Amino acid sequence: MLKAAPRIFKFSEPFLEVTRFDDVKDLPIDSKTIVLNASDTEIVIEGKPLRPWNSSVFASVVIPAAARIICITLDTDFFSGNAFPHAQSITDNWIKAHRITPHLKDRKLWRSKKDRIGKTAFNLWYAPAGTNCGIHKKHAFRELHTQVFGLGRMQKFHKNKRNSLYQEVYMSPGYTHYPFYDEDGKYPWHQYRADTDCIWLATEFHGQRL
Ligand SMILES: [Fe+2]
Repeated sequence: MLKAAPRIFKFSEPFLEVTRFDDVKDLPIDSKTIVLNASDTEIVIEGKPLRPWNSSVFASVVIPAAARIICITLDTDFFSGNAFPHAQSITDNWIKAHRITPHLKDRKLWRSKKDRIGKTAFNLWYAPAGTNCGIHKKHAFRELHTQVFGLGRMQKFHKNKRNSLYQEVYMSPGYTHYPFYDEDGKYPWHQYRADTDCIWLATEFHGQRL
């Protein structure tokens, strides 16, 4: 049987590759790679389940079977404690957040181009160390984030104020947080905060439920 060819997402960079693999059979993962289960069925790696829309960093494994995975590789460590070495290339080429959301005028936040699989859209974000990316609660879609580089946090708030914080979910490389939205697609006030320079993959489910 013919294997579906891997497809590299359009927003990939020479230093950061995001690739989708469909109908995986015995796919070797050699060097450190973030593997996101982008299907609605569990996949098993080294005898342990990776649930739908969960992810982790893997190396030296073979993925026996999966309907769809997304693999992310970097040409540098996912975490080094240092600045992201290609930050300049990102800030020169990605879209500054205020061009997408005007009230984020002074925010040090950049977004890559988008790519899609059906009704699901994907893009990358970059924020330098210490950036509060903006408290919000309105979304036209259901979102998940997968940490690619550095350490950050997803935070929840009672109000649109930083001092009303009530929960923090730390984001480390390879981790995808659980959904913040409820069954109706409603969110609490929330934001992403970058502790170090951070890159993360956003997955947006448009017009569908998880
Ligand atoms: Fe959000």
